[in-house]
Amino acid sequence: MVSVFVIDRQPGQGMSVNPVEAETLSKIAVLTDLEPVVSELMASHEAKRVLWFPAELLEPPPGEDPDHHLRALRERARGISDPARVALALNLLTEEGLPHFHRLLAVYLGTDSIWARWNNLWTAEEDRHGAILHDYTRDAGIFDPVVIEKMQFDYIKAGFEPEWDKDPYRVFVYTSLQERATQVSHANTGKFASQYEPMIGTVLQNVAKEEARHYTFYRSVFKAVLERDPNQGLIAAAKIMPAIDMPGVNMPHFRELADVVRRAGIYGPREYLKIVEELIKYWSIDTMEGLNDLGRAAQEKIMGIPARLERIAQVMELKTRPKSFAFDVIFNREFAME
Ligand SMILES: [Fe+2]
Ligand SMILES: [Fe+2]
Repeated sequence: MVSVFVIDRQPGQGMSVNPVEAETLSKIAVLTDLEPVVSELMASHEAKRVLWFPAELLEPPPGEDPDHHLRALRERARGISDPARVALALNLLTEEGLPHFHRLLAVYLGTDSIWARWNNLWTAEEDRHGAILHDYTRDAGIFDPVVIEKMQFDYIKAGFEPEWDKDPYRVFVYTSLQERATQVSHANTGKFASQYEPMIGTVLQNVAKEEARHYTFYRSVFKAVLERDPNQGLIAAAKIMPAIDMPGVNMPHFRELADVVRRAGIYGPREYLKIVEELIKYWSIDTMEGLNDLGRAAQEKIMGIPARLERIAQVMELKTRPKSFAFDVIFNREFAME
């Protein structure tokens, strides 16, 4: 694969610059200008962070026999419903897609500036999410352990190439949406599954809080992009916001897993709609002025997205019929959903 661009590349020197390259270079100038902002956001992110480790959250309380702790966890976890297990599988696999995301951030934001420091910090934090879900679900016996690991293998092997057209701004729009989506999905899965087994509630609350802090970082970065380059910023947002390619589209059984999660009320088009509305407001897209023609067209397109998502959600709900599901990762038991 041709590498997308090198962050310190300069135009000229006998090389002609085509319009796409020129645009990308001006975006790189904006990214460079944002470095002090990122530095401050990183400092405030780290000041608020609670750095937990998976083993600390999963280990037995002081004085409790580890074997008893594990047996009791397995016993409680037997009650975790199949739709809750499906949500856990989807969340675990999404987290384990981290190599795809680390690479995308490195490719789009470069490897020799504060952006690389952020990418490494963010990756170290995210890596604990997959780890804790993997360890919890194995301790608790939620999945067929070999099947889930094979799914993870296939998902990583399949790669993830979103159509971002060499545009670094799309990274921030995507990551803002995606962090919020994972936060909602973890928090709702935690509420749903902890009815049966309370420890998963604590685990997912900790993960969701961290996603919320990542969301704060990325949406603040993109707000700063919009202040510096409103027209190009809106054009990038208009490309990404209508529908995010969930990284999981390349995951085995993704559509059916996502259908179960939607039916369970954990995450679906209505949750995505709320996230889009929240970001339109946070980025003040509705009130932006002084735009050029392309910027205004992008603004109008974005303002039409919530109504479109509402229609999609309605159609999906109208078409939904009771259905039975079975997945080998959760031992092929058949379960029915409305
Ligand atoms: Fe995560
Ligand atoms: Fe995150």
